[in-house]
Amino acid sequence: MKITFLGGGNMANALIGGLLKQGFPVADIRVVEPLAENRERLAGAFGVACLPAADASVLESDVLVLSIKPQQMREALAPIAGKLTRQLVISIAAGMRLTDISRWLGGYSQLVRTMPNTPALIGAGITGLFADQSVDAEGRRRAELVLGAVGKTLWVAEEGMMDAVTAVSGSGPAYVFHFIEALRDAALALGFSEEQARLLAIETVVGAAALAADSTEDVTVLRQRVTSKGGTTEAALNSLNADDFKAAILRAVRAAEARGRELGELLGKD
Ligand SMILES: NC(=O)c1ccc[n+]([C@@H]2O[C@H](COP(=O)([O-])OP(=O)(O)OC[C@H]3O[C@@H](n4cnc5c(N)ncnc54)[C@H](OP(=O)(O)O)[C@@H]3O)[C@@H](O)[C@H]2O)c1
Repeated sequence: MKITFLGGGNMANALIGGLLKQGFPVADIRVVEPLAENRERLAGAFGVACLPAADASVLESDVLVLSIKPQQMREALAPIAGKLTRQLVISIAAGMRLTDISRWLGGYSQLVRTMPNTPALIGAGITGLFADQSVDAEGRRRAELVLGAVGKTLWVAEEGMMDAVTAVSGSGPAYVFHFIEALRDAALALGFSEEQARLLAIETVVGAAALAADSTEDVTVLRQRVTSKGGTTEAALNSLNADDFKAAILRAVRAAEARGRELGELLGKD
């Protein structure tokens, strides 16, 4: 299986690194990247072949990964529009709808839309995937192989759910960073130094997330287990509940989902 990445930025680097780590042959990967500096970085780090612009060799690939920014999509697809015949096209561009990509490719439908998140950069991502109905089981397997190289994967049955994926896990790392900021600032307020506050906040989130991921029990049970009646954790959770913490998260996720839908409309304009 030969893969060409259109766009050799951060996400392409993460995916290529992940694929090579899993033993994918370097000779089967090429990257189209206009920026010489990025081409040198990719060739130096991984030894992959890089081209400055899409040429006929791109059409020999089995899989094309669209790892460009949504605003660059239309221009990047122009050289291959109307020329694809059998290739699976995997988009990782946030918010871009398949109907728009299909139109810009001259009416092509072997498409998979995906939404990774930034922990993919260290191989700990979670990616939502949606496939056009024309994509067969082998196409889905291929998409999973590529995105599975940087973390876990989750298929959704309707494209509309990709805005929900974006709202939960795509933007989610920023919610967690915000929580870490808040816990760090609270630690500072309680008298710890910057370094101590950072360590306490980050390691608490890392440890609790690892414990939740590792456990067969629901996260609610884990929370209840550390919340003794009349204890310190209960005092804190009562305070969070009084401030409507869960409802605030729900409102935030809904706001992200709505904005994702709006951006999808805007990005798809010709
Ligand atoms: N970073 C994330 O965590 C994350 C998460 C989810 C989804 N995504 C999506 O992943 C995609 C890539 O993100 P990124 O962070 O990797 O962006 P990035 O670092 O900016 O990478 C995009 C690369 O594509 C190059 N490019 C521009 N026009 C091109 C063309 N016509 N043909 C080929 N390559 C072209 C860009 O070159 P120039 O620098 O010269 O423009 C840049 O090197 C985006 O659509 C983003 O929405 C990213």
